[in-house]
Amino acid sequence: MDIARTPATPDGNPEMADAAPDPVDPALFRRKDYRPFPWLVPEVAMDFALGLERTDVTTVLRVARNPAAEHADTIRLNGDEIEPAGVWVDDEPASDWRMDGGDLIIPLSGDAHDIRVDTVVAPSANTKLMGLYASDGMLCTQCESEGFRRITFFPDRPDVLSTYRVRMAGPKAQFPVLLCNGNLEAEGAGEGDHHFAEWHDPWPKPSYLFALVAGQLVANSDSFTTMSGREVALNIWVRDGDLPRTGHAMESLKKSMRWDEEVFGREYDLDLFNVVAVSDFNMGAMENKGLNVFNTKYVLADEDTATDGDFDGIEGVIAHEYFHNWSGNRVTCRDWFQLSLKEGFTVLRDQLFSQDMGSAPVKRIEDVRVLRGVQFPEDSGPLAHPIRPDSYKEISNFYTSTIYNKGAEVIRMMRTMAGEQRFRQGTDLYFERHDGEAATCEDFVRAMEDGAGLDLGQFRLWYEQAGTPRVIARLEHDGTTAKVHLSQEVPATPGQPHKRPMPIPLKLALFDRDTYERGEEQLVVLDEAQKTIAFGGFAETPVLSINRGFSAPVTIAREASRDDLVFLAARDDDPFARYEALQELVVRQLKDAVEGKLDSEARDKGELAIGDALSAVLADGNLDDSMRGELLLLPSEGYIAETLAVADPARIHAERRGLRAVLGRMLEAEFVALHDRASAVPFSLDAEARGARKVKAQALVYLADGNPERSAEMAFAQYQGADNMTDRQSALMVLTGLDGVERTNALIDFYNRYQGNALVIDKWFALQASSMHPHCLEHVKALAGHRDFTLKNPNRVRSLYMAFAANPHAFHAADGEGYRMIANLILALDPINPQTASRFVPPLGRWRRIEPGRSALMREQLERLAAADLSRDTAEQVSRSLG
Ligand code: ARG
Ligand code: ZN
Repeated sequence: MDIARTPATPDGNPEMADAAPDPVDPALFRRKDYRPFPWLVPEVAMDFALGLERTDVTTVLRVARNPAAEHADTIRLNGDEIEPAGVWVDDEPASDWRMDGGDLIIPLSGDAHDIRVDTVVAPSANTKLMGLYASDGMLCTQCESEGFRRITFFPDRPDVLSTYRVRMAGPKAQFPVLLCNGNLEAEGAGEGDHHFAEWHDPWPKPSYLFALVAGQLVANSDSFTTMSGREVALNIWVRDGDLPRTGHAMESLKKSMRWDEEVFGREYDLDLFNVVAVSDFNMGAMENKGLNVFNTKYVLADEDTATDGDFDGIEGVIAHEYFHNWSGNRVTCRDWFQLSLKEGFTVLRDQLFSQDMGSAPVKRIEDVRVLRGVQFPEDSGPLAHPIRPDSYKEISNFYTSTIYNKGAEVIRMMRTMAGEQRFRQGTDLYFERHDGEAATCEDFVRAMEDGAGLDLGQFRLWYEQAGTPRVIARLEHDGTTAKVHLSQEVPATPGQPHKRPMPIPLKLALFDRDTYERGEEQLVVLDEAQKTIAFGGFAETPVLSINRGFSAPVTIAREASRDDLVFLAARDDDPFARYEALQELVVRQLKDAVEGKLDSEARDKGELAIGDALSAVLADGNLDDSMRGELLLLPSEGYIAETLAVADPARIHAERRGLRAVLGRMLEAEFVALHDRASAVPFSLDAEARGARKVKAQALVYLADGNPERSAEMAFAQYQGADNMTDRQSALMVLTGLDGVERTNALIDFYNRYQGNALVIDKWFALQASSMHPHCLEHVKALAGHRDFTLKNPNRVRSLYMAFAANPHAFHAADGEGYRMIANLILALDPINPQTASRFVPPLGRWRRIEPGRSALMREQLERLAAADLSRDTAEQVSRSLG
């Protein structure tokens, strides 16, 4: 499994992978070493003889010298765990080829050749789920980033673009549906019980966008008429029984296609768009040209089996993959260091789409919560990297929240600075200039400068420097002038000890504290270490509202009094800023409590202020329930930990639960009333009913700590009366954290009701692994032995162990048992599926920010891992985490 990266050829031959390996560490790839590939591969023809146990692949590459690259007398075709069964050059059997690691090197003397290589692969044995693999009896592929080389030998790098012609054949009964990229050109009967299909994709694409699917599938079929009047056939392919759960995905797809035309001017470019749902998948979904392959989790939904959150996830991921057709496929990446070029931009596009489909403020708050809950910790830990990394050993480890979510924030800042209209001119120019090319982040920035008229000279630092900038804001009042003093610090990150000041676009406004009137909102770009902005006309010190709409992905330290935060929490007209003031009120209280800075008087005062603020939120008739639900949500334990230099997870947990108990008791009548009111709203998928379900869950959660018996009763009644998964799951979540017969009965009922529905059984595992129950860790141990648990299915593994690793009170058990469990999982999973295994390393990598006792125990497990024989994926994450 551990096929080392190929070292540079000693004779200085320029052929190489994406970038040349480091001479001292041949497994390290560096961005600055990029060289174009010496050969162009304008056309590829492939032939697949399909079988689950054995698939025979014939590949013919038409190659020609790349005039833009150095001369080479060989061609290097990447391979991974495959062998050439035969090699031909210009129809002559070749024997002068050699292997270099996994790669095939073939001497070539002329300027253009046809190269044929045969390979044999074993899909059923492919547990890594990269390349061609079997899932539920069907065949499917995942090629991004470097999976194509597990199917055939190829220059497997994103700057080699080819048109593909693919013939696939196999037993018709077993594989009645045969799908590939592009358009279907021919199909028919083959020998015996076989049949075949021939596909042609007219759009040149890199190998990572190749896809093939064969199996017993049924389609939800529909069509879409594009802005220029072309008819596109749409199919969502699933297993037979799943067809009734594809409606939402289809609606989401059609909405995405329309939205991309209207908002970005992007039209679809083939006559066919296929989506296939597979149950074994390492990630969420994949944007293969004309043939998106999805994790079933992001396709299948109906009200009985999917929550409102699941519905949103499907809408967002369907949009994301569809949007990649332009931001990723028509314009692709030159090399994998540019990954954020397509991912950051496409995440921004899907976020804007979802904002338009539902509540924009709520979507913004949700996105910020993900960023701060996942990306900020990444950016302050040993795995911190810029959105355009400088080096990697295994690119799969760089499909991170930094590349995706911070990448989106960086482009969003450009949009904020340019305004929507000029931003659109920038993206238009980008698509026009680079259509059909493999581009770089620098290309994007330049198109933004030229198209949107921005000067992004210093802004490029956002691509170079890792770490979350910290902005310190202080308000000074003198006569009638209010001065806002701003300063910034960018923390040191691995390999980047010194940082330069970044341009930070901050939307801010000042409120008159007596009249509640707000001055005009300003966009201030803090582009120096310090800056002061003066505002006239304030007889009294105003209240500062800063980073409105979360205009920059930074942390803000503001010298605001508790009264100011209460003021903003009650009346800031920017929904994000209002949410933020409330969060800060709670974070300050919990931080002080955890650090032992609260005497009982200060504690009471703080609790009362928070209670009043929440009470106002509960009573505010101008809020819709969806926004109310956001405002009621307490900051997560992880987020609180992130605000502390060194965190004691047990204390954070105890204080947060304690505060919730106080609030639950203080506002018990209000929460019960809220639950009653919301329970009277009948089920529907409209915003009002969804909001009602959201606040219902919040009410139960507060009551679970404030009055557990009452909450258990209410939750059990909600569980039994539920006519949808959202209500059923939120009730079960609360019950799973409590003790009593209701817990046992509801868990048994849920399991029996949904036995056989893998996605819902995943929820059953995840609810128990993320529960507040004091014996959660023991529950997880027992569940690992459940007959439905398997290491072979990534969704199942994540549902048990990711949920557990994200559940601080269980994962951070004082004796280190949680750390040992995750390390054991990594060791067991790594030989089966290294990509998924390596994703469990980051939770252990937080050791530097945890109190000394636990920190040592976490480190111990990392060292135990480091001593083991690990995949390249996991080894890289472990060694960076120990750093
Ligand atoms: N490009 C895909 C997406 O963002 C992710 C594929 C990642 N695959 C991988 N093996 N790392 O939708
Ligand atoms: Zn993507």
